[in-house]
Amino acid sequence: MYNSMSRINSVLLPMIALFFWVFSSSVTADVSYDDKAFIIDGHRKILISGSIHYPRSTPEMWPDLIQKAKDGGLDVIQTYVFWNGHEPSPGQYYFEGRYDLVRFIKVVQQAGLYVHLRIGPYVCAEWNFGGFPVWLKYVPGIAFRTDNEPFKAAMEKFTAKIVNMMKSENLFEPQGGPIIMSQIENEYGPIEWEIHAPGKAYAKWAAEMAVGLGTGVPWIMCKQDDAPDQIIDTCNGFYCEGFRPHKASNPKMWTEAWTGWYTRFGGPAPNRPVEDLAFSVARFIQNNGSFVNYYMYHGGTNFGRTATGRFVATTYDYDAPIDEYGLLREPKWGHLRDLHRAIKLCEPALVSTYPTVSWPGNNLEVHVFKSKSACAAFLANYDTKSSATVTFGNKQYDLPPWSVSILPDCKTEVFNTARISSQSSKTKMEPLSTTALDWQSYNEETVSADDSDTLATNGLWEQVNVTRDASDYLWYLTDVNIQPDEGFLGNGQSPVLTVMSAGHALHVFINGQLSGTVYGGLENPKLTFSDNVKLRAGINKISLLSVAVGLPNVGLHFETWNAGVLGPVTLKGLNEGTRDLTNQKWSYKVGLEGEALGLHTISGSSSVEWVEGSSLAQKQPMTWYKTTLNAPEGNDPLALDMNGMGKGLIWLNGESVGRHWPGYIAKGNCNGCYYAGTFTENKCQSNCGEPSQRWYHIPRSWLKPSGNLLVVFEEWGGDPNAISLVRRRTESVCADIYEGQPSLKNLRMAASGRRDKLQSKAHLWCPPGQKISDIKFASYGLPQGTCGNFREGSCNAHKSYDALKRNCIGHQSCSVSVVPKVFGGDPCPNSAKKLSVEAICS
Ligand SMILES: *[C@@H]1O[C@H](CO)[C@@H](O)[C@H](O)[C@H]1NC(C)=O
Ligand SMILES: *[C@@H]1O[C@H](CO)[C@@H](O)[C@H](O)[C@H]1NC(C)=O
Repeated sequence: MYNSMSRINSVLLPMIALFFWVFSSSVTADVSYDDKAFIIDGHRKILISGSIHYPRSTPEMWPDLIQKAKDGGLDVIQTYVFWNGHEPSPGQYYFEGRYDLVRFIKVVQQAGLYVHLRIGPYVCAEWNFGGFPVWLKYVPGIAFRTDNEPFKAAMEKFTAKIVNMMKSENLFEPQGGPIIMSQIENEYGPIEWEIHAPGKAYAKWAAEMAVGLGTGVPWIMCKQDDAPDQIIDTCNGFYCEGFRPHKASNPKMWTEAWTGWYTRFGGPAPNRPVEDLAFSVARFIQNNGSFVNYYMYHGGTNFGRTATGRFVATTYDYDAPIDEYGLLREPKWGHLRDLHRAIKLCEPALVSTYPTVSWPGNNLEVHVFKSKSACAAFLANYDTKSSATVTFGNKQYDLPPWSVSILPDCKTEVFNTARISSQSSKTKMEPLSTTALDWQSYNEETVSADDSDTLATNGLWEQVNVTRDASDYLWYLTDVNIQPDEGFLGNGQSPVLTVMSAGHALHVFINGQLSGTVYGGLENPKLTFSDNVKLRAGINKISLLSVAVGLPNVGLHFETWNAGVLGPVTLKGLNEGTRDLTNQKWSYKVGLEGEALGLHTISGSSSVEWVEGSSLAQKQPMTWYKTTLNAPEGNDPLALDMNGMGKGLIWLNGESVGRHWPGYIAKGNCNGCYYAGTFTENKCQSNCGEPSQRWYHIPRSWLKPSGNLLVVFEEWGGDPNAISLVRRRTESVCADIYEGQPSLKNLRMAASGRRDKLQSKAHLWCPPGQKISDIKFASYGLPQGTCGNFREGSCNAHKSYDALKRNCIGHQSCSVSVVPKVFGGDPCPNSAKKLSVEAICS
């Protein structure tokens, strides 16, 4: 990664600098490309990349995440740059803590990996407002992402700010840094397609502006099939094998290979089988692909209020190879690592030639990359149901349905996308017995129109216009005068209040009493409250607490989308018929009283009288809770189990953990999962009927050894005594290996001429700090089931447990050959046997 420049004696540097200054116009960047490869410092490469977004984890987590990415076979870490995190108000920049971009890039550099920096500055990313600062919306005359001068000026200023920051830290590759490419805009093609001419002009401007910043590394635009010549157009999706760059001499890049999907409050947990993910990547590579980025490789957490609108959850786990908490998700991580090793073994052939494609049968396809000195083959079976046998060279290869086998020497199969030889694991959320929490409560006051600190006007205002997103909460307050002669006062029939809101949730209070709660759905954030309300003669206080759950991040001119109570608001069943309250006098108050008092901070939390013991508020809406807790021992990642709570916000030592909403139960289609066949985000869902998000990540680094302040604001009402601190641990690891199953070891053995001795091995290993304490299940023969619920089949070697117990118990890792003699002989000589093992990690 270091070019020769950085090794040159510093005495020579001024001379070199002069040389570069004189010849700079003719110096080519150290990163270039053609249609087959990226060329970095003269080396032709197929690049494997993974997205890790720095604010979605903590600086303390970064080195471990990046090391795990490196161990997983990545060359590149890709991240967006999050404008609204860096410029919360105009000209006020923030690059600290989780937003310390330079530190993040240097951690990647220290690990010896490259960086793909997607500056955007529009990033989508299920991130609040797509990464735009809220103030940008209120710049006079602005329209986002089109040929609009105020927008372009702001975008250019921020982009240049980031580029200059990277330059001044020498982070671009030609300067000796790790950044090998950048991105301007993001998935703009579909917007341009809708708005035509101004979109075209803007895309051209953005490209020229970016290139004009002189980074010395290539720029890409994803989903931009009319990208200007000097920009690389790239693909995002679950599959990209059919994608062709808009310019034939450009490399074929997949900037977002979706490893899973994001979770929404109200939605189920998404899962993408790794067999299908590996299959899609192998197909991309066999079709001339030269760059693949996993989106996400580590998804992490939408801390604070960074999750976007439309109910995106606080977890951004994404079913990624590294889970939200930083633990390996197995077998996803390991199977992809094996895929990457197989691809790297093919690299000499892949970077030097195009494939020859043949079709040996129905749904079968063979790609051969044969250059003077190298040969690599990819054998594919696209059938979703049937296995197939392919004859290639003079050998036969068995291919499971929907799979690709990789032969880095055109002879030896080292990997098949549907046969997993890496271990799988089961994780658990383990309650920590030491954490019975002593809670105190404080009731948030209901505000009314005549409170002194409200802002009065006529009519209803859009929510974000008033809050500027300083809070999720906005009070809409008005008075309703009921004459003593109203008919309903005598006949016991209460009038119906109807409130129409653009979203996303609403609590209706009448004279300080909660009258009802409504919230939007995943398909439509809009909501209507319509119910009988108890009114009395005289002045009635109507207090509507409108709650926004993030601003939108995607869609044509999403900056114009509304939130909050826009009306109409009506009262039906009066003597006069229906009274329209929409245009009468309304008062506003931004945020909760507890937010203004800073109840979530150490100093603010002592500003009110909390109650405890038998006075503790339970199942009461609009309640603040606080407690203190000690940090549990060890290094296991931690989470709060919020089951029993409804909806609200959580803080630890003043840091915002995020929005909790375990009261929103997941609806979806959880009818099992078969890996084969085209994947969509609605396939392979799980968690239906459970809270969409029950556990909330508490980063270890936010905790002191003792006396940590945990504060929860609960809107709906819940039982705080049900909240507990849990640790996430690997409970057990499993291997499920066929005899003779190809593995990367095969290649080395084949290379040394020992082709007759190919044998498969089961490898098991517990995470650092844990050891194998027991073998929960072992069967060599025809076992059935999957990790966590294996069972014996019709054939089982009686000594299945012996070798595993002997080799594994007490060790962090072990391996056992899958051959009959290890298990006391062959239990069923004419069957294709396998070994299934589950080992407990303690
Ligand atoms: C690979 O690229 C070459 C050159 O553009 C093209 O002719 C060929 O069809 C491509 N092959 C595949 C399988 O995409
Ligand atoms: C936004 O707020 C301003 C006052 O700050 C008001 O004049 C305007 O009507 C509001 N617009 C909307 C759409 O609510």
